[in-house]
Amino acid sequence: NILTLFPEMFDIFNHSIIGKAQDKGLIEIEPINIRDYTLNKHKKVDDYPYGGGAGMVMQPGPVYRSYESVTEKIGYKPRVIYLTPQGKVFNQSMAEEFSKEEDLVFLCGHYEGIDERVYSLADKVISIGDYVLTSGELASMVVIDAVVRRIDGVLGDEGSSVDESFYDGLLEYPQYTRPAEYRGMKVPDVLLSGHHAKIAKWRREQSLIRTKRWRPDLLESANISASERNFLDSLGAVSYTHLRAHETLSDLVC
Ligand code: ADE
Repeated sequence: NILTLFPEMFDIFNHSIIGKAQDKGLIEIEPINIRDYTLNKHKKVDDYPYGGGAGMVMQPGPVYRSYESVTEKIGYKPRVIYLTPQGKVFNQSMAEEFSKEEDLVFLCGHYEGIDERVYSLADKVISIGDYVLTSGELASMVVIDAVVRRIDGVLGDEGSSVDESFYDGLLEYPQYTRPAEYRGMKVPDVLLSGHHAKIAKWRREQSLIRTKRWRPDLLESANISASERNFLDSLGAVSYTHLRAHETLSDLVC
């Protein structure tokens, strides 16, 4: 359930993997137009800020009433996630946590702000990063996408999320497909060897190495063994195979 002033924006979820998940009945995406819950005869949902200043502020009434339309429909009070740049930065473990909920309500902030009293509705206040978007709609789409793909049956291949980035708190290993050599760049021999144990070992090492090179901050809380930590400590200067001639690793990942 998405409380929004722009319900049409969520037509994006009629496509691709989330569209299919809806067709299969695995999930339901329900945008709710906050404007439908104004009592104002001109359908206004905002007003001037108390204390003066530029811009308008969204009033609490239509937001509260739109939330109550959800609680009346489903018969209980689902968790409310309020999207605003002032929130805690969203991450994969929040996506896992939210994916276990039967129902969720996403409240999309407005570029000029919502009356402070809507914080009383929120169970979680979430930002998708330290930058400012025009509204919470795009941010809610990012969160919804990350949550929905963690629901059983949504991704066709059940295995495909086990090896992905952030599983175990590490980045994913490098992937290659045919041809075995492209413009002088070769696929690592081990991947052509057919030796499953060696391939698994190589992939785990590459995940560790890549995380150390590109996102060393993740290693602090990654789920890795003592011997894997020793392996990382024993690595010398970092390099990367597919850098362009003029680049350094820090150009690529900064
Ligand atoms: N609304 C505007 N910017 C946002 C952000 N970075 N995260 C969540 N909601 C937002």
